[in-house]
Amino acid sequence: MMDYPKLFIFDLDGVITDTSELHFLAWKKLAYELEITFDRDFNEKLKGIGRIESLERILELDPAKKGISEEEKIKLSNRKNDYYLELIESLEKKDILPGIETLLQEIKAHQINIALGSASKNAPIVLEKLGLKDSFDYIVDAAKVKRGKPDPETFITAAQYFNVPYDECIGIEDAVAGVEAINGANMFSVGVGEKRYLNAADYVVEDTSKLDFKEIVTNFSDWKAKKEASV
Ligand code: BG6
Ligand code: MG
Repeated sequence: MMDYPKLFIFDLDGVITDTSELHFLAWKKLAYELEITFDRDFNEKLKGIGRIESLERILELDPAKKGISEEEKIKLSNRKNDYYLELIESLEKKDILPGIETLLQEIKAHQINIALGSASKNAPIVLEKLGLKDSFDYIVDAAKVKRGKPDPETFITAAQYFNVPYDECIGIEDAVAGVEAINGANMFSVGVGEKRYLNAADYVVEDTSKLDFKEIVTNFSDWKAKKEASV
């Protein structure tokens, strides 16, 4: 018998739309001005991580930046956000990643709730631009949580809102920190991206076009059955 989940929780940046790349470009521009360079491999450590903490991780790359004050950090992170806002200016419906709209429709058709679980303060603007605000029954963004990913709070907050058990939820993430957060919440984790980064996820697809409702639910259902058999 197929076990259906009660809630899907989607990450935003890098899952719904390719803003992971835009965050990367904005951080790179700021880092360049600070005479710090970093590559895509390091960028995997920034995905899913809040604004100030991301900046701190970048500053740590240069020992000379150790004494930077909290005030200066806020200034720098605001500057990065200005660059980011420029980059998302032209974001529109056609920037929704392949497969996402179909998946959202399938979930709805099965009367399963859909939440957003994002670390971004820009999440509401991004959803607005994509014309996707009404597709989500509940939004957890940076304003609603105290501890960002990899802490499970983002995902737990969504499950608690709908009053559903955590192991009846599926989280979808492109970030290592995000997968860790879903796993920490005891939910079924779907990773979108390269297996070499997302090997902790319960199920991995290489890109969003491979996110198939039936496949995901089948894997979730098997995971659930195994868990129940082991107790
Ligand atoms: C996450 C992104 O969704 O949001 C991170 O993966 C980003 O790259 C974080 O730093 C915070 O976003 P914002 O828009 O509040 O600066
Ligand atoms: Mg992401």
